[in-house]
Amino acid sequence: MTRGPEWDARTYDRIADPMHRWGVAVLDRLPLRGDERVLDAGCGSGRVTEALLERLRGGHVIALDASLAMLDEARQRLARFGDRVTFVEADLMSPLPIGDPVDAVLSTATFHWVPDHDALFRNLAAVMAVGARLVAQCGGVGNIARVQAASDAVALDWVARNGDAALDAGARGHLNFATPLATAARLDAAGFTHIETWLTDEPTRLEAGDPLETYLETVCLREITARLTPERRRAFVHDVARALPEPILDYVRLNVTAIRAG
Ligand SMILES: C[S@@+](CC[C@H](N)C(=O)[O-])C[C@H]1O[C@@H](n2cnc3c(N)ncnc32)[C@H](O)[C@@H]1O
Repeated sequence: MTRGPEWDARTYDRIADPMHRWGVAVLDRLPLRGDERVLDAGCGSGRVTEALLERLRGGHVIALDASLAMLDEARQRLARFGDRVTFVEADLMSPLPIGDPVDAVLSTATFHWVPDHDALFRNLAAVMAVGARLVAQCGGVGNIARVQAASDAVALDWVARNGDAALDAGARGHLNFATPLATAARLDAAGFTHIETWLTDEPTRLEAGDPLETYLETVCLREITARLTPERRRAFVHDVARALPEPILDYVRLNVTAIRAG
C-alpha cells in the first residue's frame, strides 16, 4: 500500500531523533484528559505514538500507516500497550477504515508525503467527532530546500556524466511542502474551524559522514535513491552530503491546529 518505495523502518526508528523531538513538542499542543480515542495519522515506527499512549492511561490509540514495514516496527515497540492500541494499514488519501469517530487526531512528519491535501483533510474530518481537535506538523514550504538543491545539482551532474536515465525526470520525488495559507483554506473547505497554521524553522545539525548519509538516504532522499542500485545509492548520497556547505538540514515545519466543525 505504501506509495513509492517501502521504508527502511528499522533504520528510520533508530535515526528519527529529530522527528521524535518535534513530535513530542507537537503532542504537548493536544489537551488530553487521558481517556480519549485518538488517531495517530502516519504513526511510522511508533516513537511518537508511544509518547501519546503514555498520556492516554485510560484511552485508545489507532496507529494508522500505509507502510507495512513501519506498522511491523510499531507493533513491536508498542506491544506493551496491549489492546489500548489498534494498528490500521490505510492510505490517508482514501476514506479511512475506522469505526466510531475519534476524539482527536495527531499527525507528525507525515502530511508532506501525501500528495493530495484536499483528500487528506476530507478523510480526516470524516472520522472525527464534532469538536475533535487536529494537531499536526509536517514539512512546509521551503523545507529542506538546500538539501533538494544539492540533490538536484548532483543528479544533473550524474545525468551529464553517465547519461543516468534513472535520475533524469522528476528526480525529487513527490514531496508536498504546503504553505500555511493554502493549508488553512483546505482545512476550512474540509469542515474545520478554529484553524491555525504557521511555519517554524528547525535547522538540524547531524554528525557528518555515516550518520548524515544514512539519514539522507533513509528520509530526505529516499524517493530519488530508490531509483538507484544499492551501490550507486550510497555514492549518490555521499555526493549530496559533500555538496552541502555544512551537515545541517534546513528543515521548515508546517504546524496545524484545527477543530472539526459541527
Ligand atoms: C517520516 S514518517 C513519520 C512517522 C512518525 N509520525 C514520526 O513522527 O516519526 C512518515 C510516515 O507517513 C506514512 N505515510 C506517508 N504517506 C502516507 C499515506 N498516504 N497514508 C498513510 N501513511 C502515509 C509513511 O508510511 C511513514 O510511516
